[in-house]
Amino acid sequence: MQNQLHVKAPGNWINDPNGFIYYKGKYHLFFQYFPYDTQWGTMHWGHAVSTDLVTWEHLGIALFPSKDYDKNGVFSGSAIEKDGKMQLYYTAVQYETLDPENIHVSKDGKLLSSQAMISSEDGIHFDNIKQKKQIIPVCTDPSIGDQSDLRDPKVWKEEDCYTMVLGSTNQGKMGRLLFYRSKDSEHWTFEKSIEDDRFGIILECPDLFSLDSMERDSWVLISSPIGIVKKEGISENQATIRCVKYDYDSKDMIFEMNDEVQFVDYGMELYAPQTNVDEEGRRTLIGWMRMPLPVEEPDGTKWIGMMSIPRVLTIKKNHIYFEPHPNVRNAFYKATLEHKTNHETNHEKETVFNQKLKKGRNYRITATLSEGEVLSIGGYKITYQDQILRTDKSAVMGNWKEKTVPSETPKLSSKTVSLEIYVDRNLIEVFVNNGEYVISNIVYDLSEEVMGEVESFESL
Ligand code: FRU
Repeated sequence: MQNQLHVKAPGNWINDPNGFIYYKGKYHLFFQYFPYDTQWGTMHWGHAVSTDLVTWEHLGIALFPSKDYDKNGVFSGSAIEKDGKMQLYYTAVQYETLDPENIHVSKDGKLLSSQAMISSEDGIHFDNIKQKKQIIPVCTDPSIGDQSDLRDPKVWKEEDCYTMVLGSTNQGKMGRLLFYRSKDSEHWTFEKSIEDDRFGIILECPDLFSLDSMERDSWVLISSPIGIVKKEGISENQATIRCVKYDYDSKDMIFEMNDEVQFVDYGMELYAPQTNVDEEGRRTLIGWMRMPLPVEEPDGTKWIGMMSIPRVLTIKKNHIYFEPHPNVRNAFYKATLEHKTNHETNHEKETVFNQKLKKGRNYRITATLSEGEVLSIGGYKITYQDQILRTDKSAVMGNWKEKTVPSETPKLSSKTVSLEIYVDRNLIEVFVNNGEYVISNIVYDLSEEVMGEVESFESL
């Protein structure tokens, strides 16, 4: 099964991206996967690969519960390459009390969380029986972290040592960021635990990396805290990003967070993103788009959950920019060129410049809006007013009957705003002012009509 542009659940349920890595000439994206139903349950890792970050091939299940310590779920984690092998790190979950009526959820919400790894010779075959190892046992010291909520190892190599960050909590009251270190990537020692109300009540899916920049302090922290936003109609759990001062080399590791914070995406629907470097060393992010309803395909298949397009991160004056990965842009450019060429030689009658959306196609649209202007893409409204860019998806929500709140950027400094928009049947991603902000929204039934001035309209 193939996906274009966005990795989507291959039936049933997916959430967080996991183990995103460029390995032996291919991009691998794993994801939290419940293969039996369109709701969250016992977690597996699904697996998709791509050579270009545009076309993805689903390879089925890579990791599944097979040990006593992970029998109730293989939670989120990350990937590294070591000595030619792919090593995956994940949180292994056991429930304290099983619900006898539904073995896929915990009866009391209490987990026993440990950290585990699995290695693979080729990144395609994973021996879930012989190659798994538990590397950090369930935490029994509450001054470090929580035995239930301690998860989502993100691992990277810094010179001669490996670092792992994890999310946890002080008894469900305040989020914590944990650091572990290892010389060999298998034996880990606890280094530091940082508690901060900016980590919500529980911290999930931390990601810490440096962005190449001429500026100092180019380290960046992404975190997905639980309970950070209190606004009706918006999820309490949101992915945030900020610059940090981080020096792993100093005797007492330095870690300080900047006050300024951004949401990774101002649609407030993207969560638990993960980054890694692409083939060229660009820091690239993919996030999980939370969907309120499953989609039913004509053949009866139901699926819920999809990934954003890959976005390249850069930093200017302490602000983080998100741009569509160049491969994604180029795919549209190439497809449009082909269309034009075919058109000239009369092989293809159809024109892509009629500004009508066709089901099953993906679009890239560029536009500039001035104060008071509106662009409607199949009923999805984008407005620029009072120097704030707003999107309203209330007319394209299909069977979703609950109220939707418009998404908006912080106040912008420009009189006009430039937009680069990617349109999929179920997801619209709006890149504002060359990635100063992004708004992405899940949609269900776009009409064909595009209303408003657009500069370019390309289809894939
Ligand atoms: C974030 C998260 C992670 C966890 C996974 C379980 O969405 O809750 O913290 O590992 O999902 O599916």
